[in-house]
Amino acid sequence: MSAPRLGITRRLLPPILLISALVAAACTFLQGRQEHERLKWETRQRAIAAADTLRGAIEAVWPLDQPGQLHALLDRLRDSAAALYTADGARVAGSSNLPEKFLPMPGIVRDAIHTNQRTKGIETDNQRWWYVQALPVRVNGAVRGGLLFLSDLSPSEAAFPRLWRQALWRVGLPALLIALLIFLIIQRSVIRPLTELMDWMRRVRTGGAERSGPVPRSGIVAPLTREVTHLARSLLAARLAAAEEARLRHQGESRWTPERLNAHVRTVIQGRPLIVVSNREPYMHVRQGKALRYIVPPGGLVTALEPVLRACSGTWIAAGTGEADREAADEHGRLRVPPEAPRYTLRRVWLQPDEERGYYYGFANEGLWPLCHITHTRPLFRAEDWTHYARVNAKFADAVVDELAGTADEPFVLIQDYHFALLPRLIKERRPDARIALFWHIPWPNPESFGICPWARELLEGMLGADIIGFHIQFFCNNFLESVDRTLESRLDWEHFAVNRAEQTTLVKPFPISIAWPDAPAPTTDEASPRTAIAERLGLTARWLGVGVDRLDYTKGLPERLLALERFLEKYPEFQGQFTYIELGAPSRSLLPRYQELEAALVSETDRINRRFHTKSWTPVVFLKKQHSHDEILPFYQAADVCLVTSLHDGMNLVSKEFVAARRDGQGVLILSQFTGASRELRDALIVNPYDIEQMADALHTALTMPPEEQRARMARMRDMLQTHDVYRWAAGLITELANIRLEAKISSAPTREAE
Ligand code: G6P
Repeated sequence: MSAPRLGITRRLLPPILLISALVAAACTFLQGRQEHERLKWETRQRAIAAADTLRGAIEAVWPLDQPGQLHALLDRLRDSAAALYTADGARVAGSSNLPEKFLPMPGIVRDAIHTNQRTKGIETDNQRWWYVQALPVRVNGAVRGGLLFLSDLSPSEAAFPRLWRQALWRVGLPALLIALLIFLIIQRSVIRPLTELMDWMRRVRTGGAERSGPVPRSGIVAPLTREVTHLARSLLAARLAAAEEARLRHQGESRWTPERLNAHVRTVIQGRPLIVVSNREPYMHVRQGKALRYIVPPGGLVTALEPVLRACSGTWIAAGTGEADREAADEHGRLRVPPEAPRYTLRRVWLQPDEERGYYYGFANEGLWPLCHITHTRPLFRAEDWTHYARVNAKFADAVVDELAGTADEPFVLIQDYHFALLPRLIKERRPDARIALFWHIPWPNPESFGICPWARELLEGMLGADIIGFHIQFFCNNFLESVDRTLESRLDWEHFAVNRAEQTTLVKPFPISIAWPDAPAPTTDEASPRTAIAERLGLTARWLGVGVDRLDYTKGLPERLLALERFLEKYPEFQGQFTYIELGAPSRSLLPRYQELEAALVSETDRINRRFHTKSWTPVVFLKKQHSHDEILPFYQAADVCLVTSLHDGMNLVSKEFVAARRDGQGVLILSQFTGASRELRDALIVNPYDIEQMADALHTALTMPPEEQRARMARMRDMLQTHDVYRWAAGLITELANIRLEAKISSAPTREAE
């Protein structure tokens, strides 16, 4: 038994035993006394009845002309004695066992004759205790004498210890047993879990995450366990962060952490408001029965920005598109998030169904999305979609200006993505003092491709309302600058990558976005390894596993990936039965026909390939079509031998970075499309052209036959790079740049200021 448990038990056991003993004693006493009284009462009742019978018999034979008869009557008495006296005090007869003391008529008999009433008392003859009764003997209504009737109390007195013993067995002992049982229950369901929890916390305090072992979960203290676990985890995280900070200070490296970003941003923005605007919100509320639940939507934008907002606080303005979003927000559409530990404000903007159709599904996702991604899907431009796009941008401008009302000058506004090309200008017109950055999360096409958009000019005018426009890579910046050059009257400054127009300068710079580098792993549980757990859950027998994690989007090169898998199995038949590919595909924008077609094509292609190759015990492709949470995805990353990212065109692609970050074991190979922004940074991936099916099949073979040392070397270089280029660095870069720009517009509400 552990020391704390011993301590608690020692402290609890004596009082519980004492109280139980007292309760048992009290119960025994009460029960014993009751039995005692009952026996006494019964003895006396019997004595009274016997005396009455005897008196009746005497009265019947009065005037006693046959004294022998009377003696015989008295001598039959057992455990009692009797004597009969005349009214003037002479003893007429007495039983042979009558104690001497009662030979002369006792006073009690005299009293009974006088009062003509029964008199009772207790007396002793120094040997025994007697219950004494004196009864008047009446003949024809006149008192003729007195009967003394003595009942021996010793037999019933002798029964009393037995009665007390019985009371002890019947009541006292069960009371004691119940008390012990209660103690055992407390011991099992409170003391034990509590001490296990204490042991665990001590291990956390002294040994850290690795040595703390599994979190104890049982007993009625489970809710407490949950709370304490959170607390302990925060403690662990804080300790690891501190250790990491110390390590970094020691090494003089420039690793960014949430704490560092928070401190940096506070210095840079100096108490001015920070607003982030995106179409997609970080938390969507939905109904589950009667309860409200939230989900985190898929996609790189939310993955990247959420940790930044957690670190820097501020307000995130986004469209409220969850079915229960209104219920979870206040009347202004605001709520504090993350729901379990609020760090910043989410302001939801409500869109009408036709607005959402025209602005989001129409112009943004059927127009700009295919326009910017070169994937040979034709963009659709409809005038009514454009009208809605402009209207929704104006609506968001209202929300931003509303959030900024009454706040300090020169607020920081970070606008996200292609849904809001018009927003920078709309805000700048109303808040010229605002420092505005627009970050474009998707590629920017070459000027010829961009030029087909009927509203190319309006889009660029709107975007150039920003002080900074950010893209993931320099190549997109160059494409953008060339598009401006071809479309608008402006002066391009190729030396500083800036656009100078009448009153405003806009910097166009690359800021490669990234992920939050994961904290140390949570204390390990005794669960099976991710690989075993996944194989068991999905019934997989293959020796090698591949994984892909995608929004189901035609830009992700999913049909091409399936063709490459098929070709690989064809070309390297030794891997048949040995390799399974798992696709975690999150349905996306499913109202649009192009996305519906894609989903249907993926399902039928998967079926076709599986039909072609499968065996009784082996399925080549497992397609898990649903939105998986980050926690659900992580074990797949950890279990895979190879992760495939085969986008036909992708601004950055954070799945590739998440896979690398998940591989603490240094194993696993990343196959990465050359058309992703990430391929510029993750140079140790196997870089492929997703249109080249043969090359992808070969890359898969290379990945699965790559020696572990080479895997480790490649993975280590990619991890080193990502560790120092995480999303906190990205945010710090963007915000610092924004703080440093010189606001050149004629600002009426605030003086021009050059940030330090
Ligand atoms: C891409 C875009 C994001 C978008 C995400 C998910 O990463 O750049 O702006 O949020 O896809 O798409 P969705 O349409 O569901 O927001």
